Amino acid sequence: MVVLSFSIWTEKLLVLTVATEETDGFRRFQRSAQCFNYKVKYLCMMFLQVLGLGEEWHGEGQKVRLLKAALEQYADDEDQIILFTESYDDIFASGPAELVKKLKQAKSKVVFSAEAVAYPERRLEPKYPSVIEGKRFLGSAAFIGYAPYLHKLVADWDGADEDSDQLYYTKIYLDPVKRKKTNITLDHRCRIFQSLYGSEGDVVMKFENGRVRARNLAYDTLPVLVHGNGPTKLLMNYLGNYIPRVWTFETGCVVCDEGLRSLSGFKDESFPLVVIGVFIDQPTPFTSEFFKRISNLEYPKKRIQLYIASREPNHQRQVEKFLKEHSAEYNLVKYIAPEEISNAADVRNAGMDICRQNPECEYYFSIDVQVVLKNASILRTLIEQNKSILSPMISRVQDLWSNFWGALSKEGFYARSEDYVEIVQRQRIGIWNVPYITDVYLVKGSVLRTKLNQYDMFRSGHLDPDMAFCDNVRKQGVFLFVSNRQLFGHLLSLENYQTSHLHNDLWQIFENTQDWKEKYIHPNHSFALIKNMEAPCPDVYWFPIFTDTACDELVEEMEYFGQWSSGSKQDQRLQGGYENVPTIDIHMNQINYEKEWHKFLLDFIAPVTEKMFPGYYTRALFDLAFVVRYKPDEQPLLEPHHDASTFTINIALNSVSQDYEGGGCRFLRYNCSVSAPRKGWALMHPGRLTHYHEGLRVTKGVRYIAVSFVDP
Ligand SMILES: *[C@@H]1O[C@H](CO)[C@@H](O)[C@H](O)[C@H]1NC(C)=O
Ligand SMILES: *[C@@H]1O[C@H](CO)[C@@H](O)[C@H](O)[C@H]1NC(C)=O
Ligand SMILES: *[C@@H]1O[C@H](CO)[C@@H](O)[C@H](O)[C@H]1NC(C)=O
Ligand SMILES: *[C@@H]1O[C@H](CO)[C@@H](O)[C@H](O)[C@H]1NC(C)=O
Ligand SMILES: *[C@@H]1O[C@H](CO)[C@@H](O)[C@H](O)[C@H]1NC(C)=O
Repeated sequence: MVVLSFSIWTEKLLVLTVATEETDGFRRFQRSAQCFNYKVKYLCMMFLQVLGLGEEWHGEGQKVRLLKAALEQYADDEDQIILFTESYDDIFASGPAELVKKLKQAKSKVVFSAEAVAYPERRLEPKYPSVIEGKRFLGSAAFIGYAPYLHKLVADWDGADEDSDQLYYTKIYLDPVKRKKTNITLDHRCRIFQSLYGSEGDVVMKFENGRVRARNLAYDTLPVLVHGNGPTKLLMNYLGNYIPRVWTFETGCVVCDEGLRSLSGFKDESFPLVVIGVFIDQPTPFTSEFFKRISNLEYPKKRIQLYIASREPNHQRQVEKFLKEHSAEYNLVKYIAPEEISNAADVRNAGMDICRQNPECEYYFSIDVQVVLKNASILRTLIEQNKSILSPMISRVQDLWSNFWGALSKEGFYARSEDYVEIVQRQRIGIWNVPYITDVYLVKGSVLRTKLNQYDMFRSGHLDPDMAFCDNVRKQGVFLFVSNRQLFGHLLSLENYQTSHLHNDLWQIFENTQDWKEKYIHPNHSFALIKNMEAPCPDVYWFPIFTDTACDELVEEMEYFGQWSSGSKQDQRLQGGYENVPTIDIHMNQINYEKEWHKFLLDFIAPVTEKMFPGYYTRALFDLAFVVRYKPDEQPLLEPHHDASTFTINIALNSVSQDYEGGGCRFLRYNCSVSAPRKGWALMHPGRLTHYHEGLRVTKGVRYIAVSFVDP
C-alpha cells in the first residue's frame, strides 16, 4: 500500500490520499490533480510524499492510522490545510484556490463530505442533527481541515486496521462535546464534496468558458471533488471524460492525458511484438479488401503474430489466398478454420491468450472482418496513446451505428449517453471512457497478464462474447477507452449480404456504397467529369469507369453463370427485350443484377451523359444490359446496326493484346474506329440515327464487353 500526498504552496494545502494499487481510476485521479496544478499557476507546486510504502491493505481503519502518523508533524501548524481523500474513484473538478476559499467560507476548522444515508450503522440516523437543506449524514470518503484540528480528530484512534473509519468519525461527530472540540461540520450542500452515490440524478455537466464543471442541480453548487464508487462508477467514468479537462488554451492544459508512448526512431526489430486476432463470424462483404489492409498495415510484419479465426466457410477462399501470399512475412501465423470452431467465445479466448502467455507480447490487437480501417498507421497511433484498452471509434457510413456504447441500461445493455451522437459525429473529439467497445481494440499485454489474467474473458453469464468481455474488464476496474481523435475508418453493414453468387461484393452497391465504389469504380472516374474528355469519334466519349477488379469479377461472374445465349427469339424474351442484332451474351437480369446495374448507371454514367449531352436528362432506364462474348470460333464480330437506345454504354472488360487480338468498334457514318479498347473504359455514343456501328472482328482469344442500351 502506498500513501501519497501532494502539497500546494501559498495556502499551504496538502492533499493526502491512500492508494492500494495503481489502477486506471487512480491514474485518472492523479491526472486531475496534476491538471489543476498546471492551471492555477500561482498555487502550483506539488510533491510526492510516500508514507506507507509497501504496506499491505487490511481495511478502512488503516487509513486513520496512517493519517494519524502523517499528521504528527503538523500538529502545531495553524496555517496548514489538509485534504484527505480516496483516490480511485475521485476527480478534482476545480483548483486549490476554490477549495481553500470554500473551506474558509464554511467557517469550520474541519469539513466532511455528506451522504444521503448513514453508513455503516443506519440506527444512528436519529442521532444526527437535522438539516434544512442537503445531505444529513457523514461520509469519510473525503474531508478537509486545518492540521491541528485534524490532528485532534485522529489523536484518539486506537482501532484495528479492519475497523470502520467512517464509524470512528461518525461517533466523534455525533458527540456534541467532541464535535465542538474538533469543530466539525458537514458539507451538506456539496459545495466541496460531491458523492454520486444516491445523488446520480442531481449531477449534470455544465459547460462554461471553455471549462466543464460538475453541477449539483439539487443545491445549485459546483463541487470541487467528485467521488463515485460502486454502482456509480459508470457515471463517474462518464463525468471523468470531461471534468479533469480544462479547455482553456491560455493555460496550455488542454487535455489531461497520460504520457504518450512514442515509437518514433524505433528500428523495425525493436517494435513491440503485437498479436493480431482476426475474427470472421459471419458472411461479410469485402473480405479480400480487409486482408489487403491487414497486409498493408505500416508495422513491421516480423513483429506481428497473426491469429485468424474464421467461422464462415464462404470466406475460406479469401483467407487462403491471403495466407498463401503473406504467411511467410509474419513472425507467426495461426489459422483456425470453420470446422475447428465450436463457438465464438472459445476462439476469442484462445487468441487473447496467445498474447497473455508470451511475456514478449506487448499488445493484443483484436479486429473483426467488418471493420474498415482507413489509416495504415493505426497500430502505432493506438500504441502511442498508452491506454490499457483503446478502441478506434468507427461507425457505419452516415449512420449512428458504431462500435461503442456511451452508457449501459440498468440491465447492462445499450443505452444512449447524452454525448453519444456528438462523439459518433465527431463534434466532440477526444478519448472517451465508455462501458462497451467492440469490433476492434488494442489491449496491453501487461494488463492481460495482471488484471485481465482470467482465461475466460469472453464468457460471463449468458452475455454474448463481446458484452462478456467488456463486463469482465469493467469488473477488474480497467477502463475501456474509445478514441475519435482521427477518422479511423468505418464499419460495414452486414445486412442484405447475399452469398449465392461467385463475387457477392458486386451486389453491395446499395448496402455498402462507399466500399463498392472504392473496389469497383476506376479512381480517375470523377476526373472524367471535370477534365477534357476523350472523344475518339464525333459524339463518342471515352472515359475510365471500372477498376480491373470490377472487370474481372463481372466476367468471372458471367462465366460462372455460364448460360450464354445464341440470341434466338426465345432467349431474348427471357432476357427481357429484343436486340436488333443478336449477340452471344448474358443479360444482367439473368444474374439478378438489374437493380444494381441501374443504380450504377444512375450514379456513375448519368452524370457523364448529362455533362456531355447538355440539356438531356436521363433516368438511366434500360431494357437491355448484357455482357457480350466475342470469340473467333463463336461470334467474332457484329454486323453494322443501330442500337435500341437513346445512348449506349459499351465497357471493355478485358485487355487487347493480353487477352485477345482485334476487336473494337467502328462508326460507319464517320468512318471512325475505336480499335484499341482500354480495359475498364466506357464508350458512350448515341444509339440511333447517327451512330450506325459495327463490332470489329476478334481474331484471337476472347473479348468481353458490357453493353447497356439506355433510355430505349
Ligand atoms: C467552529 O468554530 C467557530 C469559531 O471558531 C464557531 O463559530 C463555529 O460555530 C464552530 N463550528 C462547530 C460546528 O463547532
Ligand atoms: C504508459 O502507461 C504506463 C501505465 O499507465 C505508465 O506507467 C507509463 O509511464 C506510461 N508511459 C509513458 C511514456 O508515459
Ligand atoms: C494516419 O494517421 C497518422 C498518424 O495519426 C496521420 O499523421 C496521418 O495523416 C493519417 N493519414 C491519413 C491518410 O489519414
Ligand atoms: C489517373 O490519371 C492520372 C493522370 O492522368 C494518371 O497518371 C494515372 O495513372 C491514372 N490512374 C489510373 C489508375 O489509371
Ligand atoms: C476510312 O478510313 C480508312 C483509314 O482510316 C481509309 O483507309 C478508308 O479509305 C476510309 N474509307 C472511306 C470510305 O472514306
